Amino acid sequence: MKPAALVTGASRGIGRGIAIDLSRTHNVVATYRGRADAAASLREETGCEVFQCDVSSKEDRFAVMAFCKEKFGRLDLLVNNAGITQRQRLDIVESGEASFDELIGVNLKGPHFLTQLGSRWMLEQGGGRIVFVTSISAYAATVQRAEYCISKAGLSMIVALWAARLAPHNIQVFEIRPGIIRTDMISTVESAYEERIAGGLLPQRRMGEPADVARAVRAIADGYLDYAAGQILNIDGGFHLRTL
Ligand SMILES: NC(=O)c1ccc[n+]([C@@H]2O[C@H](COP(=O)([O-])OP(=O)(O)OC[C@H]3O[C@@H](n4cnc5c(N)ncnc54)[C@H](OP(=O)(O)O)[C@@H]3O)[C@@H](O)[C@H]2O)c1
Repeated sequence: MKPAALVTGASRGIGRGIAIDLSRTHNVVATYRGRADAAASLREETGCEVFQCDVSSKEDRFAVMAFCKEKFGRLDLLVNNAGITQRQRLDIVESGEASFDELIGVNLKGPHFLTQLGSRWMLEQGGGRIVFVTSISAYAATVQRAEYCISKAGLSMIVALWAARLAPHNIQVFEIRPGIIRTDMISTVESAYEERIAGGLLPQRRMGEPADVARAVRAIADGYLDYAAGQILNIDGGFHLRTL
């Protein structure tokens, strides 16, 4: 029997890239929120099971875990990838509470409590691996995207907490911190980023692709990082490097 993986937000972008790669070796449950069409094409392309799940909803989190149990009876890898950016870029002086609550619900509370469910199951199984997709926004301040940055910084602490709690139980937890990755999420600012990258924003002079992130998940899924509890993988073309 193949190992089983759950990848959230896998209908498009980074999550889709991860699900496509994992489906070569794993039984995959890939979740989506609204884009049933994109999820259906993923199922056709890869054979992944697809399931609608809004990670900010408690009912949906329980439902997706029940679906995984029913389909595969085990969970070897949980990839907390689903995330949103703000509907509008707004100066921190102006941005409102509704947006703050939405970002915290999807990007922070959702993956935290989904991990609580997944980890209970992995503790019963005696092992597993968990990945959180955060962002360079966990430490790089963009004042027009404050709530996104806050949610990702918080998620980074969630990784540390789960990594420390679960490491003694053969459950390894990792943070993947992507830089600028070509997906729908950045489509409105893609050309501006391309210009800045050409101008030297990144030491590696290209935008990232979902496959760059999927390769990092692959290394984790195959066990190459199993003695690196809580490790942060910067998949960012060198953005995090400080230079003088
Ligand atoms: N792109 C970047 O440059 C970049 C950089 C750093 C970090 N990240 C992070 O990487 C992750 C994936 O981003 P992406 O660029 O691939 O985004 P994307 O292209 O916008 O795709 C987002 C995915 O998440 C799903 N989703 C949205 N809201 C959800 C919710 N409430 N519950 C469950 N699923 C939900 C979407 O489902 P539907 O298709 O059904 O809408 C879609 O599958 C996010 O956590 C993001 O913050 C992205």
